[in-house]
Amino acid sequence: MGPNYISLSQKLKKSKKKVKINYMIILAIETSCDDTCIAILESKGHKKPCFSILSNIVSSQVKIHQKWGGVYPTLAKREHQKNLPLVLKRALNKAKNPKVDLVAVTVGPGLDPCLWTGVNFAKDLAKKSDLSIIPVNHIEAHILANFINEQRARSKEQLFPAICLVVSGGHTQLILMRGYGKYKILGETRDDAAGECFDKIARILGLGYPGGPAIATEAAKSAYRERFSVSLPRPMIYQRNYDFSFSGLKTAVLYNFKSQSEKIRKSKKYIQAISAEAQQAIIDVLIKKTIRAAKDYKAKTIILGGGVSANNELRKQFNHKLKTINYKLIFLVPSKKFCTDNAAMVAVTAYFHWFWGKEKKPKGVKENFVLFDAFASYESSVIEANANLRLE
Ligand code: KG4
Ligand code: ZN
Repeated sequence: MGPNYISLSQKLKKSKKKVKINYMIILAIETSCDDTCIAILESKGHKKPCFSILSNIVSSQVKIHQKWGGVYPTLAKREHQKNLPLVLKRALNKAKNPKVDLVAVTVGPGLDPCLWTGVNFAKDLAKKSDLSIIPVNHIEAHILANFINEQRARSKEQLFPAICLVVSGGHTQLILMRGYGKYKILGETRDDAAGECFDKIARILGLGYPGGPAIATEAAKSAYRERFSVSLPRPMIYQRNYDFSFSGLKTAVLYNFKSQSEKIRKSKKYIQAISAEAQQAIIDVLIKKTIRAAKDYKAKTIILGGGVSANNELRKQFNHKLKTINYKLIFLVPSKKFCTDNAAMVAVTAYFHWFWGKEKKPKGVKENFVLFDAFASYESSVIEANANLRLE
């Protein structure tokens, strides 16, 4: 597979039509997991771009994967193949058929068969329209989702260094961001991702997929004093590193659940209490480690991204905690529709890369970007195909 990726990346990176600097339309495709997404972004100005999302279509496969309690890659691939032409049509119609200047596509990390479906679709589209393709890294896109909001992209506010927490179904990473395109991974999960943990716990409790929103709904119903009836571990919370581990938490839920009588397992109170405690355990670890990293690196900003950052309690408790610490940190979190997978974040990321390719790269981008080079990291970062389906 290796050499193919390299020749593919060279082909994709070959510049074709000359694109105007001050105005452009980017069509972006995202199929790294189970959502088929296409967005069309208009950008005006270049150094301080003003973005408008002309369309942002997400075709969810949740119903198809629900019975598996996680994403089934071959089914997801088949659905992407079916959905992509339809989603493209809807995205173009909604955006009133603009003249597209660039195509962007997520090339990793993600589920291999799903990614390839998007990449091949993008290649065909670009070939037919004689356009260039910008390959996009999914994790970076989750971070830059925070800059879809034009005020942030144009703001003069000093944001860097920033600590980014990317929490999704496939990833949990703490990343030091010294500027746009300058990243260093400080730590990551050693086993399950935070979103995967939500999904697996929901499966144990019979709450369905995706688990995050289901657990959050149950947790919100739990009465305050009931929560203390269940106690779960906060894995690695006191370890002085930036890594995470969530698989033990899921196992603790499994043991707790198995130790209960049939009657209790089915009781609303128990499900609500254990959901609240599991959610709180994940939140406690995420907040503690992120704030510690922010202090250690004298960060000016904390940036959240990924599906789990849509969690209301996580957003609320982060905000609250940041008010109680003794120095000021800016807190960025995308609006909810840009937390979970979408192609608008891919389009914005492609814009920044296109811009760096045209203009002088910010100092240090090239070296650090190796970490994030979508093609370089593609092979090694593909998630094991059935990772989300295993409970043990
Ligand atoms: O970023 P995303 O859409 O896809 C990946 O890149 O994996 O994240 C999906 C994950 C799922 O595990 C889902 O359960 C979780 O994000 N998620 C949530 C919430 N909404 C989605 N987790 C906790 N609370 C939520 N409100
Ligand atoms: Zn994602």
